[in-house]
Amino acid sequence: MKKRVAIIGVLLSLGFLAFSTYEKPGFKKSDQDPRNIEQKIDSVLALMTLDEKIGQMVQYNGSWDVTGPATGTDNEKKLENLKNGLVGSMLNVTSVEHTRQAQKIVMENSRLKIPLIFGYDVIHGYQTMFPVPLGESASWDLELMEKTARVAGRETAAAGVHWTFAPMMDISRDARWGRIMEGAGEDPYLNSKIAVARIKGFQGNDLSDPKTIAACAKHFAGYGFAEGGRDYNTVNIGIYELNNTILPPFKAAADAGVATFMNSFNEIDGVPATASTYLQRDLLKGKWHWDGFVVSDWGSITELIPHGVAKDKKAAAELAVKAGSDMDMEGGAYESSLKELVEEGKVAEKLIDDAVKRILRVKFRLGLFDDPYKYCDEAFEKSELYSEANQEVALEAGKKSIVLLKNENDILPIKNSIKNIAVIGPLANDKDSPLGNWRAHAVENSAVSVLEGIRNYAPKGVKITYAEGAKLSTGDRSFLNPMTFNKDDKSGFAEAEKLAKQADLVVLVVGEDAFQTGEGRSQTNIGFAGVQDDLIETVQKANKNVVMVLMNGRPMDLSWSSKNIPAIVESWFLGSQHGNAVAEILFGKYNPSGKLPVSFPQNSGMEPLYYNQKSTGRPEGGAQVTYSHYTDSPREALYPFGFGLSFTEFEYGDIELSADSFSEGEKIEASISVKNTGNMVGEETVQLYLHDLVGSITRPNLELKAFEKISLKPGERKVVNFIIDKEMITYFTINKKWEAEAGDFEVMIGGNSVDLKKANFEFK
Ligand code: NOJ
Repeated sequence: MKKRVAIIGVLLSLGFLAFSTYEKPGFKKSDQDPRNIEQKIDSVLALMTLDEKIGQMVQYNGSWDVTGPATGTDNEKKLENLKNGLVGSMLNVTSVEHTRQAQKIVMENSRLKIPLIFGYDVIHGYQTMFPVPLGESASWDLELMEKTARVAGRETAAAGVHWTFAPMMDISRDARWGRIMEGAGEDPYLNSKIAVARIKGFQGNDLSDPKTIAACAKHFAGYGFAEGGRDYNTVNIGIYELNNTILPPFKAAADAGVATFMNSFNEIDGVPATASTYLQRDLLKGKWHWDGFVVSDWGSITELIPHGVAKDKKAAAELAVKAGSDMDMEGGAYESSLKELVEEGKVAEKLIDDAVKRILRVKFRLGLFDDPYKYCDEAFEKSELYSEANQEVALEAGKKSIVLLKNENDILPIKNSIKNIAVIGPLANDKDSPLGNWRAHAVENSAVSVLEGIRNYAPKGVKITYAEGAKLSTGDRSFLNPMTFNKDDKSGFAEAEKLAKQADLVVLVVGEDAFQTGEGRSQTNIGFAGVQDDLIETVQKANKNVVMVLMNGRPMDLSWSSKNIPAIVESWFLGSQHGNAVAEILFGKYNPSGKLPVSFPQNSGMEPLYYNQKSTGRPEGGAQVTYSHYTDSPREALYPFGFGLSFTEFEYGDIELSADSFSEGEKIEASISVKNTGNMVGEETVQLYLHDLVGSITRPNLELKAFEKISLKPGERKVVNFIIDKEMITYFTINKKWEAEAGDFEVMIGGNSVDLKKANFEFK
């Protein structure tokens, strides 16, 4: 009896009981003072039974609509557990109506009324779709990416959801890997900057503001290095590569205060990430002093069994909890085994306490203890989702993400003399693929197609004709099912050929279906699927004035097109406003400014391909074959990292250094002048790379270390200044420490990773 009174007293003081039934929400800023939050966490923890603590570490799928093999408890049992306060979180429960329903079950039935946190995959938009992350990264525009994350976060919050499983910051250098589309490409520095921008966008300055949501740094770590680009496959990288290449974005995310981390499905050098103490305890929660919680990936704790490091769920739970995985996403291992493990003395209760405190901390920061229904506002839901203002942001993001890869004889922007445009291709009038694979609550077929965009923007009097040419896919397309492609139906070719012949210019829209990239969508061939190769050739034979608009989520093999098609526009999957964004480029309303965040190879066999390679011991060979190269292909990228054309030209001056050496505590300024020598306003991303000439371990030939996006009017010149300091040359050295080593460096500045001005300096 005494204990019961004490519990009620504490609950009242924490403000729980006031909200045990639904009340109308209003934004009340929560007390974010860390000392107060820690005190509250301790008070709650002191009330919890072991079962209730373990419950917080359990996350259920709510829609019973799986994104992987469901291995958890059946639905009735789930409901019972929710009522008994044995569940900490749910994923895939969306909308104010549904999140409120689920929250009510907990608030009205459970003993302690600890609110649920709802998570969902909002990767590039909730209902308004923005460009897929790889595409948007091509904008190199951090403010823009913060803005789209803010809008996506607001739509998510409006739908009652507190937490997104984004951003993904897996460095990926392999275009065969289907999930390359979900990240920011191949470079650690660019990935770090973009990760932080997106986290700021989602989380804002105050997590308790019901217009912001908690973000999640994923997948920790190494997932993008799957051997052969095959999803979920083994990762074999050493400690230096892990630290220098893969971990920097995660460290940046932790420093930026990301609320949560997600671990990953893969192993690294024999240790599955979910069971990695080095990653989760030593680094993340140890050296990095990060105080949020780690959620497993879907069932990744139970997957320790097929990985072959645990014989059953109980062993898997023991490994994962000891390694620092705090919440079990739909895996059923923690709920079935943790209690027994604690009772048997195999797992110390203080490990459970640490995990629970981390989870409660995020819930307090979100303000859920002040008002568990604070994200339940139908009026906000109605006004926010797919609003006109959000569509404008989608259009801005779309056009800034487009990369102009080729523009022979300035065929673009389309000239006034063009009076008849044939729009051809399986993706030309596709209103669905632009939405991408991770499309959250996007309405099917809701995007503006390229054909529609062209019709919206074409000057009066220009005739627009359309032929599909061929279907790309046949059969059902969906998140979980494999794609099937049209391998032989060319019955639409004749119409396409006829229209191409009649037209002054052809816009040929080809590439990938949205469901060709994403989870489980690895390919060995990154060329054009179906009969597209033949269609491209047929159209090119009929009319030489072809602008190819690519729609895709990965770098593709463009070897034939790059030689035979005069203009190539990389449009990725741009989201809701895809067609309008493309049309703004085609008709010159916006001057393209995107730069590739990932290298495009000469052919599939070159993958994995990335710009920041090492020299090897045999970089050059002369006439003989015994050096590092291919005998049947160049080894250089077809379109390199950082590359993208504009409708204007930029001329770079030479690099000027304020000094040619510096030491501890000093810095050098590197300046370069950039002039717009064309006759259109244009934006240029000025990129700075460094080469550490001799290191204690082998060093990349060049590494991106800074960039600045500038806008120049015709004839205008600007000087861009970069600071080179010790931090910029620090890396994870032979001593397994972050150090700056004395020696010579090359600094390179330019508009892509190949055409660069150079200078040298020394760190003493
Ligand atoms: C598995 C994916 O790997 C992860 O990125 C995603 O967040 C979860 N499923 C939840 O859908």
